[in-house]
Amino acid sequence: MIAIGAIASAIGIALALWIDWFPADAAKQAAPIDTLYDVLMIVSIPIFVLVMTVILYCVWAFRMRPGQEHEDGPPIHGNTRLEVIWTAVPAILLVSLCSYAYAVLTDIEEKHRGALVVNVRAVQFAWSFGYEGEDGRSVTSSQLYLPQDRPVLFRVTSDDVLHDFWVPAFRVKIDAVPGINTEVRATPTELGTYSVVCAELCGLGHAVMRATVHVVTPAAFDRWLARRSAPAPVAGGGAGGDDGGQPGEGDLAAIGKQTFADAGCAGCHVLADAGAAGTTGPDLDRSLASASEDEIRTAIVDPDAEVEDGYQPGLMPQNFEETLSEQQLDGLVTYLATVSK
Ligand code: CUA
Repeated sequence: MIAIGAIASAIGIALALWIDWFPADAAKQAAPIDTLYDVLMIVSIPIFVLVMTVILYCVWAFRMRPGQEHEDGPPIHGNTRLEVIWTAVPAILLVSLCSYAYAVLTDIEEKHRGALVVNVRAVQFAWSFGYEGEDGRSVTSSQLYLPQDRPVLFRVTSDDVLHDFWVPAFRVKIDAVPGINTEVRATPTELGTYSVVCAELCGLGHAVMRATVHVVTPAAFDRWLARRSAPAPVAGGGAGGDDGGQPGEGDLAAIGKQTFADAGCAGCHVLADAGAAGTTGPDLDRSLASASEDEIRTAIVDPDAEVEDGYQPGLMPQNFEETLSEQQLDGLVTYLATVSK
């Protein structure tokens, strides 16, 4: 029995270590958490196997035989030595594992001076990320941009119901609770794009409540932040427009195209010009083909005013009027009006 248990444990542990459980490993916090997980597997598997082996053995060895239907086993009284062992061993194991887990927690939550503060706001069903830009101007983005190798402090809150801010590639996760700020820390280490996921069932649009994290070089991050905190971000160099600094039609459409990408519209809509193929919301090439600019604007800022047949109200974020600048909104309307015709 011991041999069978030992072999089963060895196979179980080998399998657990061989399976690639984890998503991309893009933050300093990932490695210690993954190691903790592996250690827990290594410790738990032999215990699981031990319990199962004893149960299966007993089911087989002490099964009822013909003629024993009315018999009962001998009454058993306490066994002090056994009870001491089965209390002490799990207690020692639990205390050791808890101490180890606590050490990992302390490590991943370590505070760093000069951490970048990102204010994360959740609303049914979208994320917005607030930064302090140049000259203290606040910058809001629906995509999360982070510089590589700089510790980040996320201050998380919600405007409506419980959500949960989760970046699987960073392994960190924290509830977004209306009325309070919760905090979580991560230091992105790998350049690339990863998902932000809502990990708390928050309503009909829970499954589509996603955003993208872009981990970029510090220089690229500074450029992005500077561009976003500029008073009038004009795409394309601001060449168009002869009315004194106001962006022209072409510029507005370019800003709109960028906004369409930044605000995550492609996640839910089809729009050929942007290469978007989302199916949660209406196909914009089709549904905006005969829409006026005013109708398009209403559909963005007050999406439930008129919901196309076959689509759920309440899925599209209701806060674009707040999260987009006036110019981004104008740009988006111009862009959509142009490319859907
Ligand atoms: Cu927000 Cu689920």
